[in-house]
Formats: sequence, structure tokens, C-alpha cells
Amino acid sequence: MERPCRARGFQWWIGVEPAARGRGLGRALLDTALDVLHRMGASEVILFVDDDAPLGDDRDRTAAKALYKSSGFEEIDRLHSFTK
Ligand SMILES: CC(C)(COP(=O)(O)OP(=O)(O)OC[C@H]1O[C@@H](n2cnc3c(N)ncnc32)[C@H](O)[C@@H]1OP(=O)(O)O)[C@@H](O)C(=O)NCCC(=O)NCCS
Repeated sequence: MERPCRARGFQWWIGVEPAARGRGLGRALLDTALDVLHRMGASEVILFVDDDAPLGDDRDRTAAKALYKSSGFEEIDRLHSFTK
């Protein structure tokens, strides 16, 4: 039996300058990216969050995680990067 073909879209990064945050730009960026991926044929979207920094750090991802969750994304696993 043939397997159905599913196209996946990947979002690597969005960011808003600190002075402009909290005004809806991040959600507008995400919605635009999702719309572009959808129009390119993606039926599923995967994104990554480097969520290993403490609260208040420059890389604190509290806002990003809230944005993605409120947009319907669910965490499916955790990725660890290694270097030598
Ligand atoms: C994540 C980021 C893009 C959000 O941009 P933004 O313009 O501030 O976001 P918005 O004003 O559109 O808010 C969208 C949602 O984000 C969440 N959010 C925004 N600021 C938040 C904060 N300080 N604390 C918790 N959640 C927050 C809320 O869920 C908000 O939805 P709501 O307004 O309905 O409550 C921005 O904080 C950013 O650039 N962060 C640093 C880079 C980053 O983490 N990028 C993502 C890496 S994967």
C-alpha cells in the first residue's frame, strides 16, 4: 500500500528587537511564516527552541514558548547538541 505523502515545513528562527517586543510583531511574523509554509504545501510544521538558558538570560525563551504554545504547537521531544 502506498504511504500518503506529507510535506513538512521547518521554521528555524524568528526574533523581534527587544525595544519592539510585546506589540504583536512576533505573532505576526509567526503567522506569516506559517502562511508561507502552508502555501508551499506543508501539512505539518516543525520548529526548534534552544531552551537551556535561565530565566532573565538573553536566551530566555519564556516568551517564545508561550507564543508557540498559544499558536497550537506542542513540544514533542528535546534535542541535545554536542561539540568536540
Ligand atoms: C519570541 C518573540 C519573537 C516574541 O515577539 P513579540 O513581538 O514580543 O511577541 P508578541 O507581542 O507578538 O506576543 C505574542 C505572544 O508571545 C508571548 N509573549 C510575548 N512576550 C511575553 C513575555 N514577556 N512573557 C511571556 N510570554 C510572552 C505571549 O503568548 C504573546 O501572546 P499574547 O499577547 O496573546 O499574550 C520575542 O520575544 C523574541 O524575539 N525573543 C528573542 C528571540 C527568540 O526567543 N526567538 C525565538 C527562538 S525559537
